[in-house]
Amino acid sequence: MELDYDLILEEDFDALCLDVKGGSGAWSMGSSTPVRYPAKLHARRVAAELAVDGGLVYLPGQPEKDLEDSDQPQLFRQRRYFFYLAGANFPDCHITYEIAADRLVLWIPYVEPRQLLWFGSKPSAARCAQLYDVDEVRYASQLPKFLRGRASTTTTMYVLHADQAPDLDGLGSSGSGSSRGGMRINHALLRPAMDRARVVKTDYEVAMIRRANAVSSAAHRTIAEHLLKAPSERDIEAMFQAVCTSRGARAQAYPIIAGAGSNASTLHYGANDQPLAGKQLIVLDAGCEWDCYASDITRTLPIAGAFSPRAAAVHAIVQRMQDECIAGVRPGAVFYELHLHAAAVALDGLLRLGILKGDRDEIARAGTVAAFFPHGLGHHVGLEVHDVAGGLPLIAAAAGASAPGLRLEEGKREMISPQALVAMGNKSLSAQDRERQRLRPNMIVTVEPGIYFCREYLEGYFLSDAAHARFLDADVLEGYYPVGGVRIEDCILVTPDGNENLTTAPKGDELLDVINRGRQGRKRV
Ligand code: GLY
Ligand code: MN
Ligand code: MN
Repeated sequence: MELDYDLILEEDFDALCLDVKGGSGAWSMGSSTPVRYPAKLHARRVAAELAVDGGLVYLPGQPEKDLEDSDQPQLFRQRRYFFYLAGANFPDCHITYEIAADRLVLWIPYVEPRQLLWFGSKPSAARCAQLYDVDEVRYASQLPKFLRGRASTTTTMYVLHADQAPDLDGLGSSGSGSSRGGMRINHALLRPAMDRARVVKTDYEVAMIRRANAVSSAAHRTIAEHLLKAPSERDIEAMFQAVCTSRGARAQAYPIIAGAGSNASTLHYGANDQPLAGKQLIVLDAGCEWDCYASDITRTLPIAGAFSPRAAAVHAIVQRMQDECIAGVRPGAVFYELHLHAAAVALDGLLRLGILKGDRDEIARAGTVAAFFPHGLGHHVGLEVHDVAGGLPLIAAAAGASAPGLRLEEGKREMISPQALVAMGNKSLSAQDRERQRLRPNMIVTVEPGIYFCREYLEGYFLSDAAHARFLDADVLEGYYPVGGVRIEDCILVTPDGNENLTTAPKGDELLDVINRGRQGRKRV
């Protein structure tokens, strides 16, 4: 397919909400005031969460690395915990924060002229001081001496992982590997403290995630405009990437998911290489990063420009799940209760369609609706697309650590089995954990309900299990496999009195209008 770059580059991008202007230079937030990356604010937040009187926080950034057995560089991706305290998005940096003195120092590499000849420069110390709110910018070659000097006055060095403690010539070790030159190395406290700090975003971070959403939303709009001419999933992926790159967002927050037909029922489908012809729907789950901050957006588009009656019915259920759950996002809301609400809407909808059959309460007690809505309603978004959860996952803890089929990895999208759904409904969460799960202003979460018809999953675990099969109408279900799946996903900011949807990609009737305005033009080839 031929990409129409004029269409991609023009449009109404200037009208998008540009809270933070510019690329990787100095930013302004809705005014001409330059805004530096609020590294010091972040460091103070971490210190408050650490709740210690003194000590030194040390974090190395990502070093430059080649691919294995190659002289070609690995794609650079900055370490997120380092970035949170520094704002510097280039290799071979370090950050130190002396807690009692409230002193944040960014350590940057010196670029020799012969390296510069090949790879260009990195920001100078003076430029870094303009861009990042740190107390001082120094060359990393001076870091060992600095740390040696602090060893006599600082009792504890806080690091993220044991293997990130600096290996300093002459600093020595106590023999246990847990000290350097007299400083104790603590690798237990920093990560949980940083997770608690990161889970509530600063205004700067909100602006970044808003910007990532604006770029991704523009890309989703472009896809809708060109959908009727797009031959394959591959063209959708390429076009999405091209729009983001041309608008200054080169990195995607996660691999693009462009799944048509039955591929729409694979949650993290990634091949993106199948033709669209003859398929009903395409699920496009794609979001770029803006200077390390993620967006995460899904739209489900009718490939022919109009939904089939069955696809329309399923899409309407998912839209209702999403609308009602977004309306419930506010300070104090408990996220897993929103998940339970979404599951209840899905249950009622699938009963109406005749896919589920039998007594509603019995179906609810069996958790059978998890066959169709098998993942969590959402997750935090920030420096990671599945961002840190500040100590307690939004949904998993609700079901208890022992619920089968439930992964308890913090911040990740969770597999919700029928047992997990039932456990969640039984509210096995302790009062204390329930309290910790409440949403707070400046958290950003996705709300991303879905209904999927994954034949292998349904046949393997539900149609073959009498406990669930009696609630499923296999004949009715057969007619829904070609629908594949529907997911709708937006990034929602918790505000003091409710929420704000940061995602502006068209959906609902507007999405259908945008798709069908693309009718004037070339046909799919
Ligand atoms: N794009 C991955 C997710 O929605 O969680
Ligand atoms: Mn998501
Ligand atoms: Mn997503």
